Amino acid sequence: MFPADQFQPLENGMNVKPLKFGNVEIAFPVMLAPMAGYTDAAMRTLCLEQGAGAVYSELTSAEGIRRDSEKTFQVLETGQGEHPIAGHIFGRDPQAMAEAAKYVEQTGLFDWVDINCGCPVKKVVSRGAGAALMKELPLMGEIVEKVKQAVLLPVSVKTRIGFNSQTPGHLEIAKVVEESGADMLAVHARYAKNFHGGDADWEKLAEMKRALKIPIIGNGGVNSPEDAGRMMEQAGVDGVMIARGAIGNPWIFKRIYDNWRGARCAPGQTASAPSSLQERRDMMAEHLRRLVKLNELKHRGSSRPNKYTPEELACIQFRTHIPYYVKGMFDKKRLLMQLAHLNSVDAIMEEVDILVEKNR
Ligand SMILES: Cc1cc2nc3c(=O)[nH]c(=O)nc-3n(C[C@H](O)[C@H](O)[C@H](O)COP(=O)(O)O)c2cc1C
Repeated sequence: MFPADQFQPLENGMNVKPLKFGNVEIAFPVMLAPMAGYTDAAMRTLCLEQGAGAVYSELTSAEGIRRDSEKTFQVLETGQGEHPIAGHIFGRDPQAMAEAAKYVEQTGLFDWVDINCGCPVKKVVSRGAGAALMKELPLMGEIVEKVKQAVLLPVSVKTRIGFNSQTPGHLEIAKVVEESGADMLAVHARYAKNFHGGDADWEKLAEMKRALKIPIIGNGGVNSPEDAGRMMEQAGVDGVMIARGAIGNPWIFKRIYDNWRGARCAPGQTASAPSSLQERRDMMAEHLRRLVKLNELKHRGSSRPNKYTPEELACIQFRTHIPYYVKGMFDKKRLLMQLAHLNSVDAIMEEVDILVEKNR
């Protein structure tokens, strides 16, 4: 983790400070957002090593924990030394959410509990959980209160700026979160009905920040160090959270850190320029290696055999990351078209090496 005490003031004179809530202290307030299907321990540890101030577990079902589902527990597994990390849970029943939070606490793996109130996917919303809770603020408040009572760990909430423009607004949501006792709020500045499309509304983030005493983290549309600085300046938030901008780009955290410290880039390079071909190649190899290791651990601890070997599974999981790692490379179509047939780390890396050679 990087020390935060040497940052230069941003353009508006604002100082970047460590983020504190409860007993959690995040020295560099730029975190990796939760992304189901991407932010497993392999991606999280790579981002932490590149300076991410904190990470979130993948989305974990409170009902799954209640049912004692092996698959749910696997989602909550973390890597060694993976801190600070939130256990990110979703559900609709306040009692089940409180029990899930207690379980998260008892694992001893997590630094705080995060309640998902922003997920717009049908499977979650149709059960009245995730983003649907922004339409039922009393229930959202009850969940936060029950979770708070159940654990000693700090509790945060991740929301949107609303479900849509006709449902309760961003300021009402912010107030309910704070008044129910949450210690921190992270906001994806888009309506749930827009999923991940369109511009994020940072002005609404600024209004939420002004209305709250608890720290607020801004999220949505940060894809470069320049974006991160602009969000801090325009919205006045206490920290920034990055999702898609970190896929195939764990270096983004270090770039932001360097940028805020006023470090100069190499001539001809902007702070958001992609990493060198060699760096990208080596990061892909390391990412794949970590996925295989993770799958081996899950394989060993599982009562049900998986039809794929840990390595085959890692290759399948890595398919969604590769297009981001090779972004901007010339002639990448061949690699991307072959991905479905590449079932070993060696086979993938052989193709990656051919592509990297072509781009040198
Ligand atoms: C593939 C994918 C999966 C996501 N999964 C989750 C999730 O499990 N929980 C959550 O709170 N947000 C989830 N999100 C939303 C992100 O955390 C983030 O709020 C959103 O992508 C906006 O940030 P960005 O503009 O930096 O991508 C997901 C986003 C994507 C693209």
